[in-house]
Amino acid sequence: MANHSRHTLHHLRQLINRDPDRFSTNVYSRMFAIDPDLRDLFPAVMAGQRDAFFRVIDHILDVIPAETGHTELVEFLAQLGRDHRKFGVRPEHYEVIYRALIDEFAYLLGDHWDTEAEETVAQAMMLTTGVMRGAAETAPMPALWTARVVEKFRITRDLAVVRLVTTAPLRFAAGQYLEVHVPQRPRLWRNLSPSIPPNPAGELEFHVRAIPGGAMSGAIVAETRPDDVWTFSQMHGTLRVDPSRPVLMIAGGTGLAPLRALLIDMARRADSPPTHLFYGMRYPGELYDLSVLRRLAATNPWLTVTAVSEETADPWWITSPNTPEALGIEHLVGTLADVVPLAGDWTERQVLIAGSAGMIETTRRRLLIAGVPGRLIQHDPVH
Ligand code: HEM
Repeated sequence: MANHSRHTLHHLRQLINRDPDRFSTNVYSRMFAIDPDLRDLFPAVMAGQRDAFFRVIDHILDVIPAETGHTELVEFLAQLGRDHRKFGVRPEHYEVIYRALIDEFAYLLGDHWDTEAEETVAQAMMLTTGVMRGAAETAPMPALWTARVVEKFRITRDLAVVRLVTTAPLRFAAGQYLEVHVPQRPRLWRNLSPSIPPNPAGELEFHVRAIPGGAMSGAIVAETRPDDVWTFSQMHGTLRVDPSRPVLMIAGGTGLAPLRALLIDMARRADSPPTHLFYGMRYPGELYDLSVLRRLAATNPWLTVTAVSEETADPWWITSPNTPEALGIEHLVGTLADVVPLAGDWTERQVLIAGSAGMIETTRRRLLIAGVPGRLIQHDPVH
C-alpha cells in the first residue's frame, strides 16, 4: 500500500478516535437519512450498537495499512456479514452504509479529502461492505430456523431446563453453541449450548441459569412456556474430542452443557478415550446434573466423574437429594482452578474447559503452570 494511502487511513483512525460515539452516531444518521426504514431494524437504544460499530471500523482502519492480519480481517468480516442476516440486513443495505461511511469520512478529512484519499477510503470500505455482503449472499445454510418448546422445568430457583423439537435439520456438532432468539426478548440474540448432541428426532435441550441482569437468561427461566417458538441462527464453537488421547473435561456451572453433549455423543461410539470430568458449582446441592452423569459413568467405563463445590455443605435454602455423597460420586471442595490441577497428572491429556470467562482463564493458567501444554487445552472464545 502506498505511503499516502497508509497515512490517510492512520489519519482517519485518529479522527474517529477523538469522539467514537459521534462518529457512529453520524454514520447511522446518514444511513437513516438515505433510507429511514432501516431504523426499524435496530433496537430503540443504540449506545451499545454504536460502540460495537466503532470498534469494528477502528479495527479495519488499523489492519488494512498493516503488513499482516489481512486474512483474519477478511474472515472476521465474512462472519460478521453472515451474522447480520439474522438482524434482517439485506445485500442492498450495504450500499447504503457504504455511502454513509464515505460521506462521513469525507466530512472528517475536510481539506485532506482529495482524489487519492477518496480512492483509498473507497477501496477500504468497498472491501468491508463487499466481504460482508458477499459472505452473507454465498453462505450455504438458511440464516434462520425455528424449534418449538415442548417442556420446561425449573431445577433450582434460577436454573431451568428447556426442551424443544424442530423439523429443520439440526446443523451443529456436539459441543458447539447456537445463536438463539426467544419471543420474550425481541431483537436480542444470545449464545446457548445444547446439552445433548444433535439427533434425528430434532430434539434440543438447554440448561439456562438466570444471570443477574441477564436480559435473556432471566426471561427464559421466568417466562418460557411450552409452544413458544425459538429462532436459531448460526452455530459456533470448536470444542471436540480427539479419540486418540485421554481427556480431561472441566465444567463450571451451566458450562457443563457442551461437555455433556460431547459425552453423550462419545457414549454412542466404540472408540472413546478415558475421560475424567470435573463438574463444579458453588454448593454441592447445585450440581443439578449429577444423577445423569452418574448414570452415564455407570454404563460407560471410560468415564470418571468428580464433583467439585466451593462450599462443603448446602445452605438451608438448597434441598437437593442429589448430593455427591448420596450418589456415591467423589467430591472435592474448592474452586475448579484450585482443585483440578492437584487431582492428577494431566500433562498427557487433551483438556476441554467450559464455564464463565473468569473460570476458564484461571483454570487454563493453573493447568499451564501444572505442565499441561497450551496446545492441548481447548475452550470456546471468552466473552
Ligand atoms: C460496514 C458495515 C457494518 C459493520 C462494520 C457493522 C457492524 C456491526 C456490529 C459490530 C454489530 C454488533 C454485532 C453483535 O452484537 O453480534 C452490528 C449489529 C447490527 N447491525 Fe451492523 N454493521 C455493518 C452494516 C450494517 C448494515 C448495512 C445494517 C442494516 C442497515 C446493519 C444493521 C445492524 C443491526 C440491525 C444490528 C443488530 C443490532 C441489535 O439488535 O443489537 N449493519 N453491526
